[in-house]
Amino acid sequence: MNFTTIRWDRDEGVLVLLDQTRLPGEVVYAHCRDIESVAEAIKGLKVRGAPAIGVAAAYGVVLGVRKSGADEYLSFSREVDEAVDLLAATRPTAVNLFWALERMRRTALEQREAPVEDIKRALLREAEAIQSEDERTCRLIGEHGAAMLRSGQSVLTHCNAGALATSGVGTALAVVYQAHNEGKRVHVYADETRPVLQGARLTAWELAQAGVGVTLICDSMAAQVMKEGRIDCVIVGADRVAANGDVANKIGTYGVAVLADAHDVPLYVAAPFSSIDLSIESGSEIPIEVRNAAEISQGPGGRNAPEEVEVYNPAFDVTPARYVSAIITERGVARRPYAESLAALSHHAWQPAATG
Ligand code: MRU
Repeated sequence: MNFTTIRWDRDEGVLVLLDQTRLPGEVVYAHCRDIESVAEAIKGLKVRGAPAIGVAAAYGVVLGVRKSGADEYLSFSREVDEAVDLLAATRPTAVNLFWALERMRRTALEQREAPVEDIKRALLREAEAIQSEDERTCRLIGEHGAAMLRSGQSVLTHCNAGALATSGVGTALAVVYQAHNEGKRVHVYADETRPVLQGARLTAWELAQAGVGVTLICDSMAAQVMKEGRIDCVIVGADRVAANGDVANKIGTYGVAVLADAHDVPLYVAAPFSSIDLSIESGSEIPIEVRNAAEISQGPGGRNAPEEVEVYNPAFDVTPARYVSAIITERGVARRPYAESLAALSHHAWQPAATG
C-alpha cells in the first residue's frame, strides 16, 4: 500500500492518521498530539473502520496520560479511567473500541506496582502490540478467506473493510488482496455506501491503488447486478458480531444480505476476533449509532433535501446470522451454528505477533 492509515511517530510522540474525510481528493495526514484530537478524529470519521478505531483509541489513551504528574498508581489509574471514558464515548457500535480500551486499562492495572513512568511505557507498548497484532490478523484473515475464492470470481462488498479500516490489509478486502497476490483474477463490485460513501470514496480508491479491478455501483443497484449473475459472493466486514453470529456492519449490509439470499449468493463476513462480542447473545443487544442529519441532507454540492425535513440516520444495521454463510476470522472459518463454532474458535490457541 502506498499510504499508511495509522502510524505512531515515536520521535515526536504523535499519532498520525490518514484523514479519510478528505479522500479520494486529497491524501492528507492528521497529526494528533492529544487525546481530544484523537476522540474528534474518531467521531468525525478521519479514522474509521472497527479495527482502526480500536488501534487509534489505544494510542489516544497513551496521549491522554502521558503528561500525568501522578506519583502513584491510584491517582494515575483515575486518569487512565478518564481517558478511557472519553474515548469510549466516541462511537458505540464497533466493539473493537471497547476491547482495545479494556486492554489498556488492564495493562495499567497489571503494572500497578511499577513507577508511573514505567506504566506509561507499558501503555505505549500495549498500543503498539494492538497495532501489530491487527496487521498479522488481517494477513491471516486474508489467507483463510482467499482459499474460498476461485480465479475469475466477482465479489460484492459494502462500505470499506480494507487497509483504510485497519492497520494491515483489511478484513473483507484482505481476502481479495490475498487472492490477487496468489494470482487469482478477482473483480470487486463496490457499493457506494450511502450516506458517507465509504465504498465510493475509500474502497474504490484503495482497490484502484492496489491494481485490483473494481466497479462502483450505487447501493440501489445491488439487486440488479446480482440478478444479472455478476456476483459470485458478497464479502463484508463487521463492527460487532454477537455470540449467535448476528452481524452489525455499515447500514445497508442487512439489505445486501437479504438480496444475496434471494439470489443464492453466499455472504461471508470477514472479521477479527476483536470484533466478536461473546458477551452478548444476539444482535438485538448491539447499540446502533445514530449520526447527524447533515450526512444525508447535505451533499458536496449543497443541500440534498429541504431544510425542514426530518431525517433518521442509523449508521449500522444488524444482519441476522441465518443470512451469513461463514465468518472468516484469523483463527479459522466459522460456519452455522455460530453459537458453537465461534465458541470453539474462541478457545483455539492463537499466538499474537511478537512485539518489540
Ligand atoms: O462508519 P464506519 O466507516 O466506521 O463503518 C465501517 C464499517 O462498517 C466496516 O465495514 C467495519 O468497521 C469493518 S472494518 C474492517
